[in-house]
Amino acid sequence: MSGQIPQRFIDDLLARVDVVEVVGERVKLKKAGRNHAGLCPFHQEKSPSFTVSADKQFYHCFGCGAHGNALRFLMEYENLRFPEAVEQLAARLGMEVPREGADDPRAQARERKHKEGVNLLELSASYYRERLKMPEAEAARQYLAERGLSPEVQQAFAIGYAPAGWEALKRHLSERGITEAVQIEYGLLVHREDSGRTYDRFRDRVMFPIRDIRGRTIAFGGRVLGDAKPKYLNSPETPVFHKGRELYGLFEARQANPRLERLVIVEGYMDVVALAQFGIRNAVATLGTSTSEEHLGRLFRMVGEVVFCFDGDRAGRQAAARALQTVLPQMIDGRQARFMFLPEGEDPDTLVRREGPEAFEDRITCASPLSEFLFDHAAEGRDLAAIEARERFASQVLSAIGKLPEGVLKSLLLTELSRRTGVDQSRFEALVTPREEPQASPPLAADSGGDEASRPLPERRGGTTGGALSLMGRVLQLLVHEPRLVERLPEESDWYPGEEPDAWLCHEVERLLRAGRYRSAQVLLAHFHGTAEGERLAELARRELLIPPRARAAELDGLIEHFRRHLLRPSHQEEVDALLSKQQRGERLSQEERQRLMGLLTELKG
Ligand code: CTP
Ligand code: MN
Repeated sequence: MSGQIPQRFIDDLLARVDVVEVVGERVKLKKAGRNHAGLCPFHQEKSPSFTVSADKQFYHCFGCGAHGNALRFLMEYENLRFPEAVEQLAARLGMEVPREGADDPRAQARERKHKEGVNLLELSASYYRERLKMPEAEAARQYLAERGLSPEVQQAFAIGYAPAGWEALKRHLSERGITEAVQIEYGLLVHREDSGRTYDRFRDRVMFPIRDIRGRTIAFGGRVLGDAKPKYLNSPETPVFHKGRELYGLFEARQANPRLERLVIVEGYMDVVALAQFGIRNAVATLGTSTSEEHLGRLFRMVGEVVFCFDGDRAGRQAAARALQTVLPQMIDGRQARFMFLPEGEDPDTLVRREGPEAFEDRITCASPLSEFLFDHAAEGRDLAAIEARERFASQVLSAIGKLPEGVLKSLLLTELSRRTGVDQSRFEALVTPREEPQASPPLAADSGGDEASRPLPERRGGTTGGALSLMGRVLQLLVHEPRLVERLPEESDWYPGEEPDAWLCHEVERLLRAGRYRSAQVLLAHFHGTAEGERLAELARRELLIPPRARAAELDGLIEHFRRHLLRPSHQEEVDALLSKQQRGERLSQEERQRLMGLLTELKG
């Protein structure tokens, strides 16, 4: 890594660049009121839910929740790392990116090493490819031929061969001036602590380069030619390779079709390559790990549909159950996840060769939708004629539904669960309503109505318009929009309610603001950039602050006053009033709000 980019430069950059322009060069935008709107580039959609605000210098998608400033947009859209995005923005303004301590020799050494690292992975990849053509690679070529890999597909995936012997690659790289330290750091050379000896990590193996989305080699997988163990060897974690994040075949899939709509997740290198050879060019594999949230996040930003492919055995079912848990929180409207199970003893590689690509495509087409797999899985091994079994079945399904974001899928699953168990849907709804963030009544009016405990309103995920904010969320929002309000907070911090999710963050923000380092929301956000707290603050910054500037200080005082006394929850009556008045103002109520209103009205009557 080169020297750090100074924060003030980033602030300066963001102040000069216009996010509408940056986004507008890549996404067709139309002016819509104060904002601009267009089709979200981060998920598939037919009607625009992607907005860009010139005032706030933010973009936000109401569909998938993607959001951020100009830098974040470039990172996500162009798949750039943070410093690369800074470089790109700076370049368009003709600004030079300064580096902290760029003159210091340690920073220079780090910089050199980074360049070396990127370089040596490419050098190694082409070295392996060259070796595959040599006489010494006869056995490897034969192996690939036996596995049925055509020359074309070998080339498309840049498959190579790591020669036997202990120092072939090491010598090749060292001759090109690459130090052993860097070779070790990037996982190509192994260093034995005991003997101090170093040797090539990959020897006598068929080599699969793992490439990032832009096609740069970031790691390798190597397979033995026979039955020796370990069958596959992967690069270790390095500065450029993080297993839990990368997917084998993603670059190649995008190369084959930049307008992908569906990706199939399989288990192995050979599966991806074999499917590609048979024209199924949208398979990717995780690298010996189970599918992570991060994997899915990346995939869903590219396509609307993900199909998980598992072996038909017990291990396969278990892996599927894990995948289900991981994918649930990501199932916002417009996304699809499906599950397919192969016959026992087969993997996609063997199956596509035996059945042919059409049959395999049919299997993909017929993969179970998430809902079906969820119900099947919950019913597995249970005799649903028995009440107890039905109860356990329902509670397993409910716990899964509880993980879903608000949306169509959630409602459909609740309806289906109610159909299957014969239990009234409203009962289930009460059980899956998220617990966090009680819907707040205006603090100044909080003391008026009766205050029997009530069920909180579901918070809409990623929404910036509706979605109840907790009281502490409102304090934080006020501070984000108007940092100078920090002066109104009490000196003593004993008013913070310990159990409120935003309290800790609010306290931290208070501390930073008081220290006088941050005076604008943007800089505050930059401080937390890339963390969960940063996400939260960004979300609050995006929410329109509906309180007029003159009333903000009073609002904050009211909130604090309220905390000082106690936490109050809204009465049902207040909630009903709020929903009714929303309807009377001519605003459309969402499906959940309508259901909630109906439920409340029935409860109040009873
Ligand atoms: N894997 C790994 N390390 C191992 C074994 C497996 O990283 N020691 C990963 C590899 O990504 C491999 C995948 O798990 O491709 C599936 O492994 P396995 O089912 O054992 O192999 P296949 O993909 O069927 O490999 P092949 O067809 O080459 O035998
Ligand atoms: Mn296999």
